[in-house]
Amino acid sequence: MLGDCSLTRLRARTSEKWRTYPDDVLPSFVAEMDFDPAEPIKDAVRAALAAGDLGYAHKGSLGEAFAEFAADRLGGWSPDPDLIFAIPDVMTGISEVVRAITPPDGGVVINPPVYPPFFFRLEQAGRRIVRAPLAAAEDGSYDLDIECLDRVLTEPGVGAYLLCNPHNPVGRVWSRQQLTTIADVCDRRGVPVLVDEIHAPLVLPGGEHVPFHTLDHPAARRAIVFSSATKGWNIPGLKCGIAIAGAAAAAAILAQRWDALLASHLGVHASVAAFRHARPWLDAVVAQLDANTRVLSTLLAEHLPGVQYRRPQASFLAWLDCRDLQLGDDPAAEFLARGRVALSSGRDFGSEGLGFARLNIGTSPELIAEAVRRMAAAVAP
Ligand SMILES: Cc1ncc(COP(=O)(O)O)c(C=O)c1O
Repeated sequence: MLGDCSLTRLRARTSEKWRTYPDDVLPSFVAEMDFDPAEPIKDAVRAALAAGDLGYAHKGSLGEAFAEFAADRLGGWSPDPDLIFAIPDVMTGISEVVRAITPPDGGVVINPPVYPPFFFRLEQAGRRIVRAPLAAAEDGSYDLDIECLDRVLTEPGVGAYLLCNPHNPVGRVWSRQQLTTIADVCDRRGVPVLVDEIHAPLVLPGGEHVPFHTLDHPAARRAIVFSSATKGWNIPGLKCGIAIAGAAAAAAILAQRWDALLASHLGVHASVAAFRHARPWLDAVVAQLDANTRVLSTLLAEHLPGVQYRRPQASFLAWLDCRDLQLGDDPAAEFLARGRVALSSGRDFGSEGLGFARLNIGTSPELIAEAVRRMAAAVAP
C-alpha cells in the first residue's frame, strides 16, 4: 500500500523535497513522506479531473468528513461541521486568524524549539514572537513550562498563544491535564488559544491525542484549532487545511476571513477522501512510522552513539541532539557538506535548537539506514 520508496521513483517527484538539492544528496528535511499516495485520494483527484471539476473551492462535505474521522480516530471528538472551515493551509489559516485577533505588533506566545514558520510567518504578519520555551530535561525529554507560560502571558501586548499538539519537532502529545491547565491559565490571563493539531492523525501506538476542543472549558470554546489531511496523508501540494472554531463567536472570525482563506478545490476533494476512505492507508503509515522509530534508535546506537534520540509519541520527525558530536551549532550543515544528507537545521526551530538537527523518517527503513550511514560518514575522522 505504501510502495517501496525506491529512490529512482522518488527522484521523479519535483516537489520541494526533491528539487532543493542535487541528486547526490539524500533529502531528509522538509516534512513530506516518501510513501505512495492512498488510492482513494488518487481516485478522488482523478474523478474531479475527469468531471472538469476544477473551479473555486466549495467546502462541500469537508466538515462532515472531518467530524466522522475525529469521532472515529481523535478521541471521540465530535466537532460541529458548521464550525469547520476550509483554509488553504494551516500556516495561512493561523496567520490570518492572528491578524484578526491581535493588533499590529501584538505578541504571540510560542513554545520553542518549534516548527520554524511559527516564527517567520507570524513575523511576516507583523506580530511579535513571545517565547515560552519548552523545559528540556537531561534525558532528552521535553515538557511544557506552565510557570513560564503564565509569566509571559502577562507581558504587555500579548494577544494569542499558539500551541503545537502534537509538537513538532519534539514529538510530544500533551495530556488532558496539561491542556486543562493551559486553558485555565489562558482564561485567567484573557489570552485566546490557537492550537495546531496537524500531526494528530499520526499519533503512534501508546500515545493519546487529546483534541483541545474536547475540554469542557471556556478557553476551549474561544479557541480555534487547525488541522489538515496534508501531513497525515502526505498531500501538502493539494492545499487544503481545516480551521475549527470552538463556538459561534470564534466561527465568526473565520467566516469573516473566508475570502482570504480559499482552499484548493482539489484539496477539498482529496481531504474528504482521506478522512472517509483512506483510514487503512493511515493505519499502515502509523505502523510503519512506529517501526521506523525503532529502526532509527537501533541504527543510531550502532553507528552514531553520540546522537541522543527519544522515540516520539507522534509523527515522522526525529529530533536529534547532536551536541556531543562536536559539529558546532548547525550539525545539519556538516551532515550536508560531508555526508551528502540534508536534515533540517535545529537552529531554525529557535535558539533551543542549536546543536540539534531534525531527520525525516517518513520513508523506508532502507532510506533511514542510508541517511544514518551518510550522517556517520560526516563525523568519521
Ligand atoms: C506543526 C505544523 N504546522 C503546520 C505545518 C504546515 O502545514 P500547512 O502546509 O498546512 O501550512 C507543518 C508542516 O510540517 C507542521 O509541522
